[in-house]
Amino acid sequence: TTPPVFTVIVLGASGDLAKKKTFPALFGLYLNGHIASTTRIIGYARTKMDRSEFLKRVSQHIKNTNTPKARGMLTQFLDQCTYVSGVYDQDSGFQALEQELQRVERETRAHDRLFYMALPPSVFIPVANGLKKNCYTSNGTNRLIVEKPFGMDLESSRTLSKALGSLFREDEIYRIDHYLGKEMVKNIMILRFTNQIFSSCWDKDHISNVQITFKEKIGTEGRGGYFDEFGIMRDVMQNHLLQILTLIAMETPASTNAEDIRDAKVNVLRAIPEIIESEVLLGQYGRSEDGTMPSYLDDETVPKGSKTATFAAATLHINNPRWEGVPFVLKCGKALDQPKVEVRIQFKDMGNSLFQKDVAARNELVIRVQPEEAVYLKMTQKLPGLGMDTVISELNLSYASRFTNLSVPDAYENLILDAIMGEQSNFVRSDELDEAWRIFTPVLHKIDKGLVPVEIYPYGSRGPKQLSEFVAKFGFERHLQAYSWPETSQT
Ligand code: BG6
Repeated sequence: TTPPVFTVIVLGASGDLAKKKTFPALFGLYLNGHIASTTRIIGYARTKMDRSEFLKRVSQHIKNTNTPKARGMLTQFLDQCTYVSGVYDQDSGFQALEQELQRVERETRAHDRLFYMALPPSVFIPVANGLKKNCYTSNGTNRLIVEKPFGMDLESSRTLSKALGSLFREDEIYRIDHYLGKEMVKNIMILRFTNQIFSSCWDKDHISNVQITFKEKIGTEGRGGYFDEFGIMRDVMQNHLLQILTLIAMETPASTNAEDIRDAKVNVLRAIPEIIESEVLLGQYGRSEDGTMPSYLDDETVPKGSKTATFAAATLHINNPRWEGVPFVLKCGKALDQPKVEVRIQFKDMGNSLFQKDVAARNELVIRVQPEEAVYLKMTQKLPGLGMDTVISELNLSYASRFTNLSVPDAYENLILDAIMGEQSNFVRSDELDEAWRIFTPVLHKIDKGLVPVEIYPYGSRGPKQLSEFVAKFGFERHLQAYSWPETSQT
């Protein structure tokens, strides 16, 4: 199939997101022939700069250029990029952008426009306004990619949705949650709905608890200004981890089309009551135990004395027949002992008396999102040899050893390509966003008021001391038998 012909407009083209994610992803698509070689990309931002300065920024974070072919492609790619500078709140800038759009469209004969808003939230609406008024084409499609933060709570998110909704139709709006573009996250539906062995035990009768964990080794390191206003719960849990939860917990969608999948996601969110503060554990990182790594408050971009959480654990409950009584524990933190994102589904005890509990450990299905995608199932078997001792072992699917020439596409490439193709399943619908905020808003307001304690944990540790107790309270059991597998460690 020939790649579609269209024009990309990157708003906020001189910012961090555009440089680090948008342009590298667009180049990745270009390099691999997913977008036509004639695709034009127009950058728009306030910064006044000439084209060569702009191209320097575009290429700054583009990495995959170690072959002569790729370098040649980069040159061609940069030839397709132009820049228009203008303000975000007046028509004049957008009129100049429209002229540039018409100029390139005359050359490429493209009709469809993809607007990528790599912008701070304060200018979302003025820019959407300017685009609708001046740059909305009636000859083809207009699609708008937007990125979080989508507000700070239910009310501000509704205000934003309403304003955006008065300018663009829902089928024109593509809200990115980049976790939905990750290979292993996209695999969850396939795992669940094509494998009888998982499908038939995916409920409260078989599952004791579900742990969804996000760990980063690095702290905020210079990003503290943005981060401090939001905190880890808004930054990672309300979006990325909740999205994973909905894919794990939703009922079978009526079909694989975008609206059916998103209906199923909204339905499960509607069955989740608001998080209560007694089921939340917060932490902020202090200096590392050996004193070499800085505390959150040492970050110069962080306001003095800030109480913002860099670690959060919260338990969500789903009140429907499938999940009644199964806690879903979401955990996320920065400056921890290792980088890891995984879903750990802990099954119930076998419940027979033939073998004692210390002999037969609980099964666990682990879906590791990163690093190194893997799916493995912990199980008990006989220790080979004389006697009847048992050992906890695993059925292990590590992508790196199972798939030769493994190439996992970048999340942003995945999602931008979806937007180009008009495929909305992996974007967040407005009612989905609304439900997500409903679940988190009351507790976030309490946290904002300082009503939830924040425990200091050392940089590079596993998080607040109370974490083990917290997960145990919600049914998570550590194996009684020592378990070791060099590829992973449990939490
Ligand atoms: C972003 C958060 O959405 O996701 C960051 O704002 C976080 O704080 C990042 O580091 C994690 O994404 P990834 O793809 O590196 O796991």
